[in-house]
Amino acid sequence: MVLKLVGVLSIALGLTIAGVPRKSRIDCLPTPSSDKDTCISHRCVWDDAFDSDNPTVPLCYYPMGEGGYDVLNNGKIMTLGKRSDGPVNPFGVEMKKLYFSTSAIGATFNVKIGAPKRYEIPIYIPRERSVSSDSLYLDVISKKPFYFAVKRKSNSRALWDTSIGGLIFSDKYIQIATYLPSTNVYGFGENIHKNLKHNFEKYVTWGMFARDEPPNSKGFDTKNLYGTFPFYMCLEDDGKAHGVLIWNSNAQEVTTGPHPHLIYRTIGGLLDIYFFPGPSPEEVVQQYLAFVGRPMLPAYFALGFQLCRYGYKDLDEMKQAVSRTQKNNIPLDIPYADIDYMSRYKDFTTGGPWSDFPNYAKKLHDDGLHLFLIFDPAIQVNYDSYQRAVEMGASFLEWERDDQVPSDINGLYPLTKDSKVMLGVVWPDSHTAFPDFLDPLNITRNWWIREFKLYHDQLPFDGIWIDMNEPSSFGTNQDHPWYFDSDDHPNIKPLMCPLSGKDSEYDLPPYQTKSVYLFGNNAYLSTNTMCMCALCGRGNYRLYDTKTLYGLSEAIATQEAIYEATGKRGAIISRSTFPSAGHYAGHWLGDNTARWEDLQTSVIGAQEFNILGIPYVGSDICGFIGDTTEELCLRWQQMGAFHPFSRNHNTIGAKPQDPGLWPTVAAAARQALMFRYMYLPYLYSLHFTASRFGGTVIRPLFFEFPQEYATYDLGNQFLWGSGLMIIPVLEANVSIVSGYLPDAQWYSLRDNEYGVLYPPGRNHFSAKTTELIPVLVRGGVILPRQQPNTTTTASRKNPFEILIASAYDLKTGEPKPSTGNLYFDDGESIVRDFKTYDFYMWSFDFSFNNASAKLTITMENKGNVVVPPLDVIEVVGYKYSMDGNSIYINGIKTPVTVATPSKDVLSISKSNMLRMELYSPITITWTHKAI
Ligand SMILES: *[C@@H]1O[C@H](CO)[C@@H](O)[C@H](O)[C@H]1NC(C)=O
Ligand SMILES: *[C@@H]1O[C@H](CO)[C@@H](O)[C@H](O)[C@H]1NC(C)=O
Ligand SMILES: *[C@@H]1O[C@H](CO)[C@@H](O)[C@H](O)[C@H]1NC(C)=O
Ligand SMILES: *[C@@H]1O[C@H](CO)[C@@H](O)[C@H](O)[C@H]1NC(C)=O
Repeated sequence: MVLKLVGVLSIALGLTIAGVPRKSRIDCLPTPSSDKDTCISHRCVWDDAFDSDNPTVPLCYYPMGEGGYDVLNNGKIMTLGKRSDGPVNPFGVEMKKLYFSTSAIGATFNVKIGAPKRYEIPIYIPRERSVSSDSLYLDVISKKPFYFAVKRKSNSRALWDTSIGGLIFSDKYIQIATYLPSTNVYGFGENIHKNLKHNFEKYVTWGMFARDEPPNSKGFDTKNLYGTFPFYMCLEDDGKAHGVLIWNSNAQEVTTGPHPHLIYRTIGGLLDIYFFPGPSPEEVVQQYLAFVGRPMLPAYFALGFQLCRYGYKDLDEMKQAVSRTQKNNIPLDIPYADIDYMSRYKDFTTGGPWSDFPNYAKKLHDDGLHLFLIFDPAIQVNYDSYQRAVEMGASFLEWERDDQVPSDINGLYPLTKDSKVMLGVVWPDSHTAFPDFLDPLNITRNWWIREFKLYHDQLPFDGIWIDMNEPSSFGTNQDHPWYFDSDDHPNIKPLMCPLSGKDSEYDLPPYQTKSVYLFGNNAYLSTNTMCMCALCGRGNYRLYDTKTLYGLSEAIATQEAIYEATGKRGAIISRSTFPSAGHYAGHWLGDNTARWEDLQTSVIGAQEFNILGIPYVGSDICGFIGDTTEELCLRWQQMGAFHPFSRNHNTIGAKPQDPGLWPTVAAAARQALMFRYMYLPYLYSLHFTASRFGGTVIRPLFFEFPQEYATYDLGNQFLWGSGLMIIPVLEANVSIVSGYLPDAQWYSLRDNEYGVLYPPGRNHFSAKTTELIPVLVRGGVILPRQQPNTTTTASRKNPFEILIASAYDLKTGEPKPSTGNLYFDDGESIVRDFKTYDFYMWSFDFSFNNASAKLTITMENKGNVVVPPLDVIEVVGYKYSMDGNSIYINGIKTPVTVATPSKDVLSISKSNMLRMELYSPITITWTHKAI
């Protein structure tokens, strides 16, 4: 296989006197400012020649071949000893000895560098053996100093090569650097990436540390957002892919540099690195998910459209938005309430203006809709829920010693007066405590589950939205927090963390990472959150080490809560996530802004989160912060209809933006969502496959076409699985959109050009606001579908249809087979184990030649649920004239209706044509001749 094009990286970074090329440096002083004297005092090299064309080149850098560690002994576990030469670590004393071990988990290759008694992530993950046609091995490049490579067996290519130097290991500053085999690097997070692919033309450092930080899509911003993902995928220049996960939960950062190389830094834990050999991008994701846990299967209804806003003043306002949507025949499955529904923002309470909420929930259920509610982790310490927690013995984040406890805060409340519970400030009127979801006794989790059960008895919700779980706390370390100026929040004292003296070890470590420095001079690790010195896991851990796991640990507890409260699987979305979180929850892309830039980055964000293992993802449609515009909202509804999590959400104070407000937006939303609902059996089957075997739902184009260089950075279009191409409109004032079609047949599925074939390469598509955005099916793929309705409850009862996109060899024109599958279950039962779960799965195989065609439907898994009949089979790209009397179903001649609704489209239909659940295989054959 040959690349269509070869990318050439153009960097004009020359050599300098000290011998380390400007394109392969490791910053020795990555703090906000560095100067020559400090640099030289640490025995690093200073470059006097600042290059204004390349301002990101580090001026203070590690000399090559010095520092790091030597191998002291050979063997399965090597001992590494600190070298005496080279730079002096500016941020701590280096460990004299380290261990270095390797292991394999199936095809996954692990390199571990650490020292005894270091913190390791305490959360359970499956660590399942992965499979691959390739494998990886360790190559020791040099023993003194110690440099290693991780290589592919198939071609000996180094995926990592640490001979660039820079290995540092001190208590609170750990660094490793490596050359990379290519610049096609994707992932790391959570950050706003303006391109799908990382940019290696300059040095860029990305913060990675869970933080309550809204995404900023205007300009270029490398700040860390809500989640933490030390995972990337790299596409090598021959189209083979691999992935790397650094299993570390401390505040961390990654610098990508032009060589290409990367420098990884963390301020705790150890270097526990997992390499996934691919060789296809989808296999990389499968191998990664075998290790961290495969994504949960959302309830079928959770794939329906969702409508939310922050700032409904009462239940009536929510009802009005819902009925505006329904009156416009816009599909809607899930209305939401944000924190407004609570009594003064306390979890598990219902406010006065919402007292009729239980009746409304019943009405929604009667109409086939479902209800999602928001819950924050922080619990006000002077009401029933906290009282029950104390009575049960649940644990909360706490101070280490009594003398650290601010008695003027804890003393305010009878339940915290003599406790070490660390109190913060969130939306409620009084101080809040933060549940310790790492409690090894599980009491905290059991209390949390019980609260959901109690509340569900009052207000029957179907899904849970967990927010503010970085965890977020307002005003920490500030004399005048923002809420002192708010009418809706009393001026209670914020949390003050120890920022000096002996107790500041965790709150002011020697190096705070870019996750702090990017926020300016008054920023700390504890900004917007709790103190890093807080104890959790009943005293076993520090928040310093586990903060990034807070959302994941809450999601784990909350998944059990929704199971127990509702008896169904429902769905959860979480703001803060970490690798493995997809097993428990989906994610929305956070508090975006109603701007075109935010629409653009959300297309990239959804593709990234699929790589990171959270396929149930989407953005706040029409934009959260600020007033949207009619056109932006229309385009966002059109695009957002193709994200697995599809929700219109708005902030308090912004103008209403539910799609029923403007006739044009209503029409566009109805059209796009009706299309989505028609193809939901395909989207659901993709989720099912990802959940059962691992993998993506939304897929970047390069996943399917890794040999086509033009697909490597297409952040503005995406696929559903392997079969459906979506080309959204992401700019104002356009009526045409440009899209790239890789080598295959692509047939439009838009009504006005149904079945029209587009050629591979760049195409311009008509994209008026009144048209569905371009959606094309790929030749060789079979998609299941159903006629849509305005709820999934109704649409999933309609007869099945299957759409066959015929394929022809691009050179010879010879017909090629098409394949697909369909998963179906009751849409909401809890999946504990697919081996015993009740579901159907069929595979479809279609083949044809000049004389005849044959479709085979094979039942791969038999279930018990009621299955709608198959009524319609359609073939696009069909260049034959078929004999309407030649259809045989399992050898029996069957009269059906045959039509040609448009050019090269064949439609075969009959009411109750087939019951796919009754026998297997089913074959459908007919004869035809070329036109
Ligand atoms: C807590 O729950 C986990 C997961 O269900 C279980 O493995 C563990 O044994 C439980 N621990 C205790 C002390 O019950
Ligand atoms: C779109 O066109 C209108 C009218 O021509 C103009 O006022 C507006 O600035 C344009 N918007 C953008 C984003 O180009
Ligand atoms: C949509 O669902 C409703 C409620 O089940 C039903 O009455 C109606 O006939 C359905 N319409 C279509 C087009 O399926
Ligand atoms: C099918 O028909 C086309 C056009 O008539 C012809 O070129 C091709 O050779 C035929 N292929 C086979 C396998 O008969």
